[in-house]
Amino acid sequence: MSNRLELVSRLIQIAEPLFQSERLPQAGRWVATQVFRRLEAFSDDGTRHHARYPACDWLETALAPHTERQTEFSPIAEAIRALEPHLSWSRRMSGRDGSVDYVEKHVHGMICGPGGTESRLDVQLGFSIMAPHVRYPDHSHPPEEAYVLLTSGQFRQLDGDWFDPGIGGGIHNAPSNQHAMKSGELPFLALWCLLM
Ligand SMILES: [Fe+2]
Repeated sequence: MSNRLELVSRLIQIAEPLFQSERLPQAGRWVATQVFRRLEAFSDDGTRHHARYPACDWLETALAPHTERQTEFSPIAEAIRALEPHLSWSRRMSGRDGSVDYVEKHVHGMICGPGGTESRLDVQLGFSIMAPHVRYPDHSHPPEEAYVLLTSGQFRQLDGDWFDPGIGGGIHNAPSNQHAMKSGELPFLALWCLLM
């Protein structure tokens, strides 16, 4: 690809202010500022991951709270839905304390980042889907990361308590700090961005 897809431009435009919400910690907003600054420049190394996974089938249900009625998050839900045919998907296969079926019941959609719709190594912008009642394993990674939650869901950082930042709320994961997430009665959907 030599130009940014219009669908990617639109998604970036809608996602950027969501990461600047007061409902995110300041450090999360700062990470996002750096990520979206880099995203001003189009960059694509052409790598594509075409595999699909069972949890991709949860996308529609996860988006439903914002596609079946008009909410503050309907624009981002529609932008994700429109990009679906162009996304790449991946899964985490290891980590501590994940629910027994977490591998089959979660998936990550990559928009901008390695193998994604716009494949690049300097940032990651994507989202995670989990089926109901899934506990994603504890994990950590050197790049820092910001999340915006689009459904109900809970996060845990280091050995702290589980907490639900609320729809539109988010978290910041400091470099290499352990974190995890889990869904409740409904599917989980959260946007994230990482500064690589
Ligand atoms: Fe993470």
